[in-house]
Amino acid sequence: MTIRLIIDCDTGSDDAVAIMAAALHPELDLIAVTTVNGNVPLANTTENSLRVLDHIGSSVPVFAGAPRPLVRPDFPIPRAVLNGDDPEFQQLYLDFPPAVSTVQGTNAVQFLIDTYSDDANLDVVLVAVGPLTNVAAALAAAPQLASRIPRLVIMGGSIGWGNVTPAAEFNFWVDPEAAEAVLSSGIREITILPLDATHDAPISLADCDRLDQIGTPGARGTSALIRHRIGHYPDAPDAAKLTAPVHDALCVAYLLHPEVVTEMLTCPVHVETTGERTLGAMLVDTRPWSVEQANARVAKRADAQIFVQFLADAFSP
Ligand code: RIB
Ligand code: CA
Repeated sequence: MTIRLIIDCDTGSDDAVAIMAAALHPELDLIAVTTVNGNVPLANTTENSLRVLDHIGSSVPVFAGAPRPLVRPDFPIPRAVLNGDDPEFQQLYLDFPPAVSTVQGTNAVQFLIDTYSDDANLDVVLVAVGPLTNVAAALAAAPQLASRIPRLVIMGGSIGWGNVTPAAEFNFWVDPEAAEAVLSSGIREITILPLDATHDAPISLADCDRLDQIGTPGARGTSALIRHRIGHYPDAPDAAKLTAPVHDALCVAYLLHPEVVTEMLTCPVHVETTGERTLGAMLVDTRPWSVEQANARVAKRADAQIFVQFLADAFSP
């Protein structure tokens, strides 16, 4: 049974791998990509998404969404300041030829509302791997979507340390109000893959060699993107251990292979929207006596071998 999905993303390198895997895997049907401000500005996340789809010869439509967070005028810390020490980690333009295809005329938020307002689309899984601004805006304009989106898989948050601050992961930190609004919206099946899971299933240089041997445009493009990521992660003690998490693609792997997540929590989950030091933090309530209803499942551990095999399957001819 083919799984139909939409990817809402802020294309950067790991979003790009998620898009290619979803567009190419025979058991997945990527019906659209919606873009949001995040890793890079909206114009760049949109151009990068178009470039990646052109690279694999895909006609999946791209819809551009929010250029800034839901409530705040910008990131809590401006991007230039945030990325000051490694501006090239998330490249403004991914290393693919300039896009030939063009963005759709409909705004991504309106596209999400229109799509889930149509009863023919009540099977379409929403995979959100950037700041949740588009998803929150669609839910604010059309609250009934909460009962119509069948499954939401989110890359975001962290149970342990964050990657922007000790407390917060990037996607939730960029737009904490949007993240909290989505988690509190009542969508009936939310699964979050936080940094704890994505860092537990890193991709290695040897895995990139395996992808290069597959040799297809998706495999080679993915290998190059991951090698770039590995080059920007803290050096491991030796080359054999050089790896990088590919956060967003793990969410797509999870759709087809839920066993890629080897430990999962089910509990109340919220996002801090006011903390001076904890802004954007994901709060996972694992207290046995908690009286609040669980609103999400949260992956704690993941299996890199299952993840890499999924990528190899997606990119094999
Ligand atoms: O913190 C990692 C997440 O932030 C990933 O989705 C990455 O692409 C960025 O959006
Ligand atoms: Ca992303």
